[in-house]
Amino acid sequence: MPQQLPTLAVIGTGGTIAGCALRPDDALNYQAAVLPVQALLAALEPPPGFAIEAQQLAQIDSKDVSEAHWRALLQAVQQQLERPWVQGVLVTHGTDTLEESAFLLQTVLRPAKPVLLVGAMRPSTALLSDGAQNLSDALLLAATPGTRGVLVPCAGRIFAGHEVRKLHPHRLDAFGAGDAGALAALAGGRLQRWRPWPGEGGPQHGSLAPALLPRLLADAPWPRVEWINSHGAQTGALVRALLLQHAQADGSEAPLRGLLVAGTGNATVHAALAQALHQAQQAGVVVWRCSRTGTCVPPGPDAAQPLLDWAYGLRSPAQGAERAGWQDEGPESAAGELPATALPAPQARLALQLHLLVQAHRFAPRQT
Ligand code: SIN
Repeated sequence: MPQQLPTLAVIGTGGTIAGCALRPDDALNYQAAVLPVQALLAALEPPPGFAIEAQQLAQIDSKDVSEAHWRALLQAVQQQLERPWVQGVLVTHGTDTLEESAFLLQTVLRPAKPVLLVGAMRPSTALLSDGAQNLSDALLLAATPGTRGVLVPCAGRIFAGHEVRKLHPHRLDAFGAGDAGALAALAGGRLQRWRPWPGEGGPQHGSLAPALLPRLLADAPWPRVEWINSHGAQTGALVRALLLQHAQADGSEAPLRGLLVAGTGNATVHAALAQALHQAQQAGVVVWRCSRTGTCVPPGPDAAQPLLDWAYGLRSPAQGAERAGWQDEGPESAAGELPATALPAPQARLALQLHLLVQAHRFAPRQT
């Protein structure tokens, strides 16, 4: 029987990397998600000794990503990771919500193999297109021994999937990771590394996947979490409208479970909005704050920390969820304070959804 070559599995989901414009000098007006993933790979050689397998999972502009897409993505990546001969997984992805998918994959799966999310800022037809270079960097990284975790290569720098964020709408180096910075850089096929890969050198146990993946993949909708901003002249009207809809519960929308508020500065919230948010808490909606600047120093314990500690193997669920603040909404909310997280809003919204799923899981009545 022929031996199975180490394989890099490439999952296509669309985005600008698969986009086409009418003119090669037009890098701004184009249609995303046109070319099949096989076409993106056609000009690239597999790394020596590796086979490439491609699969078209979706063909979307990533602004339109839905829970169903994320469900399919989690499942497809997990299935590839479970195949022993698959050395690494690449996902071609639009850049607009890439940071959400990257955070979700790292936080839920905590992969010990490399999972590269690859986008481009210019369509494949552009004179100076960046997709092929990012894809080539991703293939090289996936084939490099020791590489692990969800990673995002962009314009020669490599970011951790749970830290990455899109910072610019059209520059080629559109991604960053806030104060954490890049993990590594690739130039001319040479890797320079400054920080460990996600999960490298850390605890080998612990992952949300065994507890949460079956629930995330089930048909039931994930807990509904809306994201709003604090800003000048806020009135809280949007929150009151949501609460009214929540109270009416006519089945036209999923019940509201969580609210993520991107506050000003260090996650501060306009007084009028704060009043409405306290009403939301009283109605049983879990409210978290983050900062619309992209990060903050939470005044109390970081609201997302118990989830992240579990997700990244720093705490097992058996190590006392009570101490981690999972018993209820924690002392902060009891005192009327709104818990805050340092995560940027796109990741914080997902973290709140996962947190709510964990809570539902822990406190769901036992099936007899
Ligand atoms: C998208 O996110 O699908 C379109 C924009 C991009 O990929 O840069």
